[in-house]
Amino acid sequence: MRNLVLIGMMGCGKSTAARLLAQELELEAVDTDQLIEAREGRSIPDIFAQSGEDCFRELEAELCRELARREGLVIACGGGLPMRPDCIGPLKTSGTVVFLERDPNDIYDNVNMEHRPLGQVEREAFLERYRQREPVYRRWADRVVSTRATAAETLEAILEVLR
Ligand code: S3P
Repeated sequence: MRNLVLIGMMGCGKSTAARLLAQELELEAVDTDQLIEAREGRSIPDIFAQSGEDCFRELEAELCRELARREGLVIACGGGLPMRPDCIGPLKTSGTVVFLERDPNDIYDNVNMEHRPLGQVEREAFLERYRQREPVYRRWADRVVSTRATAAETLEAILEVLR
């Protein structure tokens, strides 16, 4: 079974969707941020603060090469991961990439950014980051799904495009 790879802006709901999808399809859910935190023994904010974003991106790239060699995974990717071809490239080769699309204003207003170093910015900077990333997400995506009012409905929408 090839992998399912969920990409999209921070706070769009990738981790929840990955968990629900994995349950439904009897696959294993993994989350790149959580795996990096577990391996490093420190939180994402600590990695950014102590070692810098470049270090974090290298950890992401290393992890992607590993995950791409596995099968049967639903992979929730960190929001910035698709910006590096050496991260998303191997994952795309390993499976189907789904871009989970959610209005960035909705994210900004409703999602807790406490543990997201790049989320603690003014609205305009957040929207600008989204504008830069959105075409990249779209370019790597095999499928695009807009999030719905509930996680269960979003799950149904993803299952529908995968059929
Ligand atoms: C990031 C998103 C985060 C995490 C890190 C950087 C980004 O993941 O990888 O804070 O660059 O958008 P989520 O998308 O799970 O918040």
